[in-house]
Amino acid sequence: MAVIDRLLAPDSAFQQRFFFLAKRFVAGETGRAAMDAIAALNAEGFSATLDFLGEDVTERGAARATRDEYFRLLEAIAARGVESNVSVKLTAMGLLVDEDVAFENAAAVCAAARANADPFVRIDMEGSAVVDATLRVHARLREAGHDNVGIVLQAYLKRTPADIESAIASQTRVRLCKGAYNEPPEIALKEMPEIRRAYLRYAESLLVRGTYPGIATHDERLIAAVRQFTGEHGIAKDRFEFQMLYGIRPELQRALVAAGYRVRIYVPYGTHWAGYFYRRIMERKENALFVLGSLLKR
Ligand code: FDA
Repeated sequence: MAVIDRLLAPDSAFQQRFFFLAKRFVAGETGRAAMDAIAALNAEGFSATLDFLGEDVTERGAARATRDEYFRLLEAIAARGVESNVSVKLTAMGLLVDEDVAFENAAAVCAAARANADPFVRIDMEGSAVVDATLRVHARLREAGHDNVGIVLQAYLKRTPADIESAIASQTRVRLCKGAYNEPPEIALKEMPEIRRAYLRYAESLLVRGTYPGIATHDERLIAAVRQFTGEHGIAKDRFEFQMLYGIRPELQRALVAAGYRVRIYVPYGTHWAGYFYRRIMERKENALFVLGSLLKR
């Protein structure tokens, strides 16, 4: 484990050498590279949300450093004039150190984001161990007057129906995704057809009664079902957005823009790309095959 930790340490020679593998899914290792990627996406009609990669921070100093990187990032978004907001992970803001630390850092980011054309701050959802704490911090942010913040809900969790209803009641902006962590069957649906059915049920509730939902999926069946549902219910294309990950199914991303839908691309960047990259290759054989292909081409 110690050897693996050393190999995957953000500045290790190993990781620097293998960034070419992650390049399709990670916009770059610097804020400047991320800005360039967003400008290119904007030119194709996409908006973006920027994520500074990192999670599971266990020291206050590191959590503050994440917060400060977001300050720089928000300034860079404004200076470059790109169409983007930001996504944050509360474990990178200190949630595992102390809930108050995460709250204070996230509140500072929300306050700084107010100066931007798109002031919205999305709190990503992480593993089930921190779902309650993440929702509590979000609720505290709203109580403290930060109305430019929203959450992510995961369709695979069995608790999600209640979370959807409370998000609708509090007019919280929700990004709906399937869920990316390996959760036990006691708390999570494990079969894809079941997850899809749940996803569509929640998507419909959010589209009819929610506040500008983000439909985050690359699943063509779900996207077709949402397009049909919104068409049949007269839900205008500017009342929601599709969201997809940088580098995943770009042809599908472009087809949605061409059909007049709003599409936001989640753009991760930074040197701590190993965890994010691992989740992408583990969840889809297409992604693993792409990475294998890149290796063989070298
Ligand atoms: P899924 O991966 O199930 O794929 C759907 C279909 O697309 C499959 O038929 C597959 O074959 C095809 N496909 C997929 N990738 C392909 C590829 N590269 N090439 C060709 N075909 C491919 N999760 C979380 O827990 N917390 C969070 O905060 C977020 N945030 C987030 C933001 C955004 C914008 C997105 C899009 C996703 C997230 N996620 C997330 C991740 C999410 O939970 C989920 O793990 C992934 O989106 C994968 O599920 P999908 O519904 O996209 O399709």
